[in-house]
Amino acid sequence: MDVMDAADSPAALPTTVPAPRATANRSTTPTSSTFVEWISSGWADPPQPLPEPRASAASAAAHRAAISALHPGERLLIPAGRNSVRSNDTDYPYRAHSAFSHLTGWGADTVAGSVLVLEPTDAGHDAVLYLRAPAGRHTDEFYANPEIGEFWTGPRPSPAVVAADLGLPTRDLADLAAVIEKTDAATRLLRDADPELTDHVDGLRLMGLDDPAEVDTDGDATLARDLSELRFRKDAWEAEQVRLAVEATRRGFDDVIAQLPRILAHRRGERLVEGAFNGRARVEGNAVGYDTIAASGPHACILHWTRNDGPVLPGDLVLIDAGVELESLYTADITRTLPVDGRFTEVQRRVYEAVLEAADAAFEVVRPGIRFSDVHAAAMRVIARRTAEWGMLPVSAEESLHPDAGYHRRYMIHGTSHHLGLDVHDCAQARREFYRDGIVEEGMVFTIEPGLYFQPDDLTVPEEYRGIGIRIEDDILVTADGAENLSAGIPRTADAVEAWVLGGRS
Ligand code: GLY
Ligand code: MN
Ligand code: MN
Repeated sequence: MDVMDAADSPAALPTTVPAPRATANRSTTPTSSTFVEWISSGWADPPQPLPEPRASAASAAAHRAAISALHPGERLLIPAGRNSVRSNDTDYPYRAHSAFSHLTGWGADTVAGSVLVLEPTDAGHDAVLYLRAPAGRHTDEFYANPEIGEFWTGPRPSPAVVAADLGLPTRDLADLAAVIEKTDAATRLLRDADPELTDHVDGLRLMGLDDPAEVDTDGDATLARDLSELRFRKDAWEAEQVRLAVEATRRGFDDVIAQLPRILAHRRGERLVEGAFNGRARVEGNAVGYDTIAASGPHACILHWTRNDGPVLPGDLVLIDAGVELESLYTADITRTLPVDGRFTEVQRRVYEAVLEAADAAFEVVRPGIRFSDVHAAAMRVIARRTAEWGMLPVSAEESLHPDAGYHRRYMIHGTSHHLGLDVHDCAQARREFYRDGIVEEGMVFTIEPGLYFQPDDLTVPEEYRGIGIRIEDDILVTADGAENLSAGIPRTADAVEAWVLGGRS
């Protein structure tokens, strides 16, 4: 729906109870008054004790204070987002928008459709979280609505329970409509979280204007940018979440190694790699933080190989890029490249050592005050030097490193680092001058992930290198005077990786 349509017929407010989707061919819910009376009665009303605030509450409160300070006098709407349809009446697994989780501390158990409102006051903002309260068992929503009915999807917490849990005032979502319609302050909306709410707000903004182009959404863009930039520096609780995600990810890699004999015996061994890792992610966390890459043999040269439908053959290197996302929604992002037989060949080891050297060189420069791009530059010096040494470049390493050249980038086309946190590619709406061209600060968490990828049909590389793809990816926390490799405990030298594979196969 475009803005003009929205004005003509406003989109459904998040407060509206979604009508059950067409279920004529599968629903057998009786509708007789006898049944309705029967199903609506005879339910116990157990007490809902109020919990202590969860561990994320203080961190989220500090994040709210920070965004409040950046937007005085403005009403801020940060939706969690609704369910999104996968096909027909089947939804994708629900996941709250990361900015919403950052400001509320609500993670995998977020009630879909919730909206955080920061209401401007003389002193800053009052935060109120609007969520759909339980409908009660006297309603047909309870038993006849497969999308949100508690009989179908499980119990929803009351606003009082959520208020205690998150340390945040709450109200029923039904009260949100009146807030959205207020015109006493400029309203800023996180637009991409809930497209239907965005259409509705745009429709209200359009009232009294002649042209949809007059609807001013610049303030929304500024809010999205600020919410992204707020996430550059992680507090101690957030850093601990990434640390825990990395530890769970290590166990996921252990699971893969334990299953290598089965993986090698199966015609779709890559799927078994993915399944082993993803099983760990579901057991210990919410899910994987992104689609697992399980790339064996030449598939490792395909940077985002997520089809994962190939075999894992003796002699292969299998590149596994995977991360567990915790219930808090913080994720790890780790790559290890494993020789499935437990031994690198001489040429595989040569390439592996070069990638490791690039990773270590990048790690060496990390400390507060450097430019973020210095990390990449340090890795690239090694990649250029080694590929030149192996006769792959038509020029010297120095010439290739010149900004107008870049021959070595043929073998590592991607960047070395990205921020990491609630999103695998965190802080994505931040301004370039604070991200790629920005200064590294204490508390930042980012990856270091150099690689070398020699495509099987690349005539510029000697034949012995073709089909080898290697990446080593670690998650880094910037400290007061340097950096901590949060994933140093996951074997990463060639010898340690060999010992890991040989010792871990069951
Ligand atoms: N797993 C995606 C990345 O490393 O950026
Ligand atoms: Mn990464
Ligand atoms: Mn990765």
